[in-house]
Amino acid sequence: MRVANLNSDNSVIIKKVIKNAGESMNNVVEILPNKVKDMSLSKLGRYQIDISEKEMPGLMSLRKQHADKQPLAGFRLTGSLHMTTETAILIETLKDLGADVRWASCNIFSTQDEAAAAIAKTGTPVYAWKGETLEEYWECTLQALTFDGNLGPNLIVDDGGDATLLIHKGYELENYFNEHGNYPEITTTNPEELVVEKLIRKVHKLNGNHWHNIVPDIIGVSEETTTGVARLVQMEQEKKLLFSAFNVNDSATKSKFDNLYGCRESLADGIKRSTEVMLAGKTVVVCGYGDVGKGCAQSMKSYGCKVIVTEIDPICALQAAMEGYEVKTLESVLDKGHLFVTTTGNKDIITLEDMRKMRDQAIVCNIGHFDNEIQVDALNDSDAKREQIKPQYDRYTFPDGKQIFLLAEGRLVNLGCATGHASFVMSTSFANQVLAQLFLAKEKPEVKLYNLPKELDEEVARLHLKHLDADLTVLTKDQADYIGVKVEGPFKKDEYRY
Ligand SMILES: NC(=O)c1ccc[n+]([C@@H]2O[C@H](COP(=O)([O-])OP(=O)(O)OC[C@H]3O[C@@H](n4cnc5c(N)ncnc54)[C@H](O)[C@@H]3O)[C@@H](O)[C@H]2O)c1
Repeated sequence: MRVANLNSDNSVIIKKVIKNAGESMNNVVEILPNKVKDMSLSKLGRYQIDISEKEMPGLMSLRKQHADKQPLAGFRLTGSLHMTTETAILIETLKDLGADVRWASCNIFSTQDEAAAAIAKTGTPVYAWKGETLEEYWECTLQALTFDGNLGPNLIVDDGGDATLLIHKGYELENYFNEHGNYPEITTTNPEELVVEKLIRKVHKLNGNHWHNIVPDIIGVSEETTTGVARLVQMEQEKKLLFSAFNVNDSATKSKFDNLYGCRESLADGIKRSTEVMLAGKTVVVCGYGDVGKGCAQSMKSYGCKVIVTEIDPICALQAAMEGYEVKTLESVLDKGHLFVTTTGNKDIITLEDMRKMRDQAIVCNIGHFDNEIQVDALNDSDAKREQIKPQYDRYTFPDGKQIFLLAEGRLVNLGCATGHASFVMSTSFANQVLAQLFLAKEKPEVKLYNLPKELDEEVARLHLKHLDADLTVLTKDQADYIGVKVEGPFKKDEYRY
């Protein structure tokens, strides 16, 4: 969920609240064994898991390496990450390493129902299906965060930060209530923020100290994506982090692979599966030229599209220009683009007024983490008539007769209209997730935001080379001394950008 910042100094109020513990101690949810769309899909899900395991060498080799030592035994682990086939393999890896796992998806459209069913079939509590409402989505997150006896997790795998956010929001509400004896007025008009505000009030009425009870047991979270890390950085700067956090996204083997090569394939997958449009010859406007934008622009170029990039950062704009893309402002190309893709992690990139000015039959989609890159709420409240062609594929007709198509209701198109990235690249991301979880469980580090050391980042890459028949050159000692590194690495300084 996209949210306003947290706004109280948690550390001051903690002591006060603990005194009030035990006032009301009901269960915050009725714990269900699982909640998925259709258990009969589990066989299909298992086939897909079996096939994908062969494409996830990094994850499978970490499983083999650590399973007999059970380094996660005794740890309760909550995941809030797209419930896809690849995530099923991550879940089974974490379980093989000993963790007690509960899972929810981190997007209402991103679950592969067959993968969720296959995981539920093994007895792992999973709460996810494709097409959740916002209320269901946040209830699922709460279910995944609640273990028997009203306990919370020790470890969290988060993607976009929603599990982390729910805990911090609930904790902040308890602080407020303990200080003022009532709830703060709800001022937001954002539909999703309203759902969260109502949910934390419901939890508070059932158990007035729930979040303060569970936070001391939380060792930390490992965060998957750029947007979630941006939130964590803000929280750390404002000294609001309640537990340690591990930045998985900024491992080179995550952002320089998943964000780039993953999106390079899955963007087109989402567009094609929903619209079946011919891409060659079309003009595509890619908003943002970071890691995701670079992958998207390259993908569209490879289909024979004319690609125009919009950027705010002169370095990224220059990179785009030197790759041969036109770099323009969005306003100047609204009538040129056949297809618009937002990739910024920022908000209000395509406004309602922008959509009115687009050419007839333009396709609009977003691959960034949250749906607020496109003003979907404003579009839905506008005078445009909405028709659902099929789920996650809508046509809007403006009063002047002009039409646009919106994919996945503005949520990540590659997961809403297709099944996300292919397994191999998710193996690089999830190998980082597992290493982060092992680090948190073993070190129980002080509350701070951490990055994966370069040695482990290189190790993740190494685990994937053989699968692609890549042979690595080994430095001689003489060469290593000459460039000032060790023969076995690390080969680059931390600041190196790849
Ligand atoms: N769908 C997926 O599978 C997937 C995978 C990885 C990351 N993500 C998400 O995609 C988003 C982008 O991730 P990233 O790693 O590329 O981030 P990034 O920071 O590398 O790139 C974002 C770029 O957008 C630019 N930008 C910001 N505001 C802009 C504006 N108003 N107009 C034009 N450009 C603007 C920034 O300058 C930056 O270069 C994030 O939300 C991330 O969480 C999605």
